[in-house]
This record gives sequence, structure tokens and C-alpha cells, in this order.
Amino acid sequence: MIDLTEITITDAVREQMARTTDPRLRQIMDAAVRHLHDFAREVKLSPAEWLDAIKFLTEVGHACTPVRQEFILLSDVLGVSALVNALHDKDAVELGTQTSLLGPFYRETAPEVAPGGCIVRNPTAPLVTMYGKVVDTAGNPIPNATVEVWQTDEHGLYDLQLDGVAQMDMRGRMKCDARGNYHFRTVRPLGYSIPLDGPVGKLVQAQARHGFRPSHVHFLIAAPGYRELVTALYFGDDDHVDSDTVFGVSASLVVRARDNDPESPIPGLAAVRYDFSLGRAAQQATGRVGADPTAMAGH
Ligand code: BEZ
Ligand code: FE
Repeated sequence: MIDLTEITITDAVREQMARTTDPRLRQIMDAAVRHLHDFAREVKLSPAEWLDAIKFLTEVGHACTPVRQEFILLSDVLGVSALVNALHDKDAVELGTQTSLLGPFYRETAPEVAPGGCIVRNPTAPLVTMYGKVVDTAGNPIPNATVEVWQTDEHGLYDLQLDGVAQMDMRGRMKCDARGNYHFRTVRPLGYSIPLDGPVGKLVQAQARHGFRPSHVHFLIAAPGYRELVTALYFGDDDHVDSDTVFGVSASLVVRARDNDPESPIPGLAAVRYDFSLGRAAQQATGRVGADPTAMAGH
């Protein structure tokens, strides 16, 4: 029988788990236990702190609803979602546009938008045009790629926060033309605070973080034979563009609206141009870090 100490406990647990037949489960749990034990030893976790952590995770679970996933939010503010995204990017066979977080507000069945159409039902702020091309990594247009977009309104709210699951707004699905062009009109979204009324928000506030995401428009772009691209474009003049609470911003995804863009397909409106590039797909499996919350909850 082994003599159990704060050191030998780690191998005792690993030995019991070594019989796990699924090799990936064995690898993941072995690493999880090693790192978790090292963490507890490093910070000298006290019984009261251990109980606080249990209470916190219990609250995180209770804060989940059909349209709110507090565990994903926890992963987001700890940078784990962005890390998993970055790890997934590294196994791409070709490097296209950089990815960004899917976030919790994606819906699978966004309404179709005609070329140049407006994704906002009743706009109450000036419209901007977003346009560009979807190309392969050599710069050749990808005809008929599907472009899905979703964003907040000019007050920083998604439709799910305004109307629940009842009515979709500020989102749409469109097809590029034969030369890979897309364009649509929208209002400029406002940056917003992640939900701060739950346990994750309390943690963020205890860490003296502002809790904001900079103004952005999400994109999910797909074409047969290409790796699905989940990304977002961030407005460079937002105060929080350098301190996104969930670590979604990369320099290559920062854009600015131009007032007089001679190449814009809709003269007279401010315009944002961005060309997306898609790498070839090695396999068809999705790499989304997240999901439509209503689909997860079976709505
Ligand atoms: C979003 O971009 O929609 C988002 C991402 C992570 C947490 C909250 C919102
Ligand atoms: Fe968002």
C-alpha cells in the first residue's frame, strides 16, 4: 500500500485511470489530473477556497438557460475558447483569413438576404455597406460561397437579447456571385458588455476588467471543398479594440468604415471592404468553438 502524501496522490490517481480503454479520454484525463494537482499544490489551495470553487461552478451551471451558456462564457473570459480556436487553426492545410470566436449569438437559420439587401428590419441608425470578395489562398474568387453574418444593433444588443428566439434580426445568409463578390447593408454595431449579471460577470468584475467586446460583425463563410471560416471584423475606432474581454481580436481583422469609397457597390453610404480567403478543407468536420444556443437546447 502506498503512503499517501500531497505528492504521491497524483500518481495514485493516474494509476487508477490508466485502465481507461478510450486512448484519447485516457490522455486528456491524465494531463488534466497532473495539471490540476500541480495547480492546487502551487497555490496551496485551502479547504475554504476549494469550497468557493465548487460553489462558483455550481452557480455557473445554474446560470445556464436555453439561450445562455455560462460555461462557454467562462471559457471565453479565461481565453480557453480563443486558445482552442488557435489550436484548431494550426491544423489547417492552407492558411486563409484568421478566425475569431463564434460566440453565443449565432443562429443556424438566419434569413436569406439578396445582394445589397439590408440585414436590419427597421434601421434607426445610418446604414453602412459591407462588401468584398471570398477568394482562395491564391486569390482566385470562390463562386457562390455562402456568407452568414450576425451582429448587435447600434445599442449593442443582439436580437436574442431583444426578442428572444421569436424573431431574427441583424443577421442574414447570402450567396456570393460568380466572381466571389458579396455586399449587404447594415447599421454599425455598437460594442457591448458580455453578460455581467452571472457568476462569470462577478469574476470579471473582481478582476477589475471592463467586460466589453469591441464593435464587431460576425461572419461564417462556407464553400464546398474549403475549410469553413468562422471569424469577425472589428471596428478599429472602438475604445476596447485592444482589450477584448474574450480575446477575439487580431490585427488582421480590424477594419474602418470609409465615407467616400469609389469602389463601393452602393455609392453614398459609408463602406467597409474586406476580402476573405478560405483554405482548402482536409476533412469536412466543423471546427466551430460554439453552437447555436437554441439548437443546443433543442428549440
Ligand atoms: C460574441 O461575440 O457574440 C461573444 C463572444 C463571447 C462572449 C460573449 C459574446
Ligand atoms: Fe458578438
